[in-house]
Amino acid sequence: MGKAHAFGYSAATQVFDLPYDLELDTLADINDEAAAKAAAALGFAHATSDWRGLVANPDIDVVNITAPNALHKEMALAAIVAGKHVWCEKPLAPLAADVREMAEAAEGAGVKTQVGFNYLCNPMMRLAREMIEADELGEISGYRGVHAEDYMADATAAFTFRHDPAGGGALADIGSHALATAEFLLSPAAGPITKVMGDCVTVIAERPDGQGGQRRVDVDDVGRAFLRFASGATGSIEGNWIATGRKMQHDFEVYGTKGALAFTQERFNELSFYSTDNRRGRQGFLRIEAGPDHPPYGLFCVAPGHQLGFNDLKAIEAAGFLDAVAGRRPEPFNFRGGLRVQTLVERSRVPAAKASGRAFAETYGTRNLLARAGRPPAGYFTVSVTMGIRGVLEFPWSRAAKATVSAWARHIGAARDRENVYSCSGTANRTVAALASGERVVSEMAITGIFRLPASSTILTTSFA
Ligand SMILES: NC(=O)c1ccc[n+]([C@@H]2O[C@H](COP(=O)([O-])OP(=O)(O)OC[C@H]3O[C@@H](n4cnc5c(N)ncnc54)[C@H](O)[C@@H]3O)[C@@H](O)[C@H]2O)c1
Repeated sequence: MGKAHAFGYSAATQVFDLPYDLELDTLADINDEAAAKAAAALGFAHATSDWRGLVANPDIDVVNITAPNALHKEMALAAIVAGKHVWCEKPLAPLAADVREMAEAAEGAGVKTQVGFNYLCNPMMRLAREMIEADELGEISGYRGVHAEDYMADATAAFTFRHDPAGGGALADIGSHALATAEFLLSPAAGPITKVMGDCVTVIAERPDGQGGQRRVDVDDVGRAFLRFASGATGSIEGNWIATGRKMQHDFEVYGTKGALAFTQERFNELSFYSTDNRRGRQGFLRIEAGPDHPPYGLFCVAPGHQLGFNDLKAIEAAGFLDAVAGRRPEPFNFRGGLRVQTLVERSRVPAAKASGRAFAETYGTRNLLARAGRPPAGYFTVSVTMGIRGVLEFPWSRAAKATVSAWARHIGAARDRENVYSCSGTANRTVAALASGERVVSEMAITGIFRLPASSTILTTSFA
């Protein structure tokens, strides 16, 4: 992706009337050798293995982050603190709470930001949005989106940073594109997505670790979400990286009372439009081919049908960001927009789990979270939860529940009450204590225990990076 960003800047200089004379100053990579090689190939003046030095360099105004997902937040915050404008690849961070921190930091520092939702830069995507906004489809009744590829379909392919719970999973990795597209297209006509309910599954539960062993995979291979938009229109999206045979199915269909649109990224210079105006016997999808009538296509090529490519989208994205940095236009898709998408991803990952007196099992990935309800005494249920690393818990605490949790905290603090807690780490102690005092906790935790809550309690969301 670093190469695509570099291509984007280089092509943007030639294609667009940019507000700046651009210099590709420094490229950072994992070590000096890799950095020097990439910098030479891509036309950067300097190379470094020290990204912190890069973001602190006063000669640099804009920082692009195309490193593995788990590094995005730390890199972006450091760049923002140093006063740089930041264009960061998706997913911005594992948790919406992290993305909020990034968005607020950028807004506080007054720097411009961008998330790498390059598919939104396609002239045909812009055309689709304009047609929807101009009521050419009538009232929108339905939406279907999918981002499916097969780069993880081979179970013998090694564990990568995309499987790292800190920012991995199909829904975050590519389902985020599908969610961004759904909101981009329908927001003007049907309002933003207001409700989401999801289902995420891990299909390939372990992968080669690159050292002769196997490593457990906890993130989703397939994530699906049902959507409701503010207007009441409904829809769905799917993020799927084990979709055998699919190389780049970033597709959508939009249905309205007067017409419909259909699009596939594998033929992204086309948009199919169905209009109910056509008389019976002449109805069908019309194939609109990209051309100079669809800006900014004409800046790349004067003739229709000659087609843009993926790197051209990155050039459009680069130009849009630089225009935003110069104050010529609003940011096309900033960290605040990224927060919307990450929130939707997070909510889709773990659907609301209604706690009842009966057993329920809730899984994030396959194993990160296992919740089991035993046979509760009247008015209570007992949940055994095993969870790891980092998470957000939200409970609508009743006063009684808070009191119960306070009691746990005391028990855990004393580390004696085996009836309530099997085991917990030091951070878990603090987590449970924090839970007792507030409604929402973001915390490092590793805890195995039995929690007692009134049967009426609901676990709203439980998500883990
Ligand atoms: N917008 C899109 O369509 C799209 C497509 C592909 C990837 N991406 C995103 O781009 C990012 C990178 O993905 P990729 O496929 O290019 O991965 P990649 O593994 O090919 O590249 C990551 C690069 O980061 C470097 N790196 C790792 N640790 C580093 C460190 N500590 N300091 C400096 N450099 C370091 C690696 O050496 C490598 O060159 C991911 O966030 C991914 O989600 C976006």
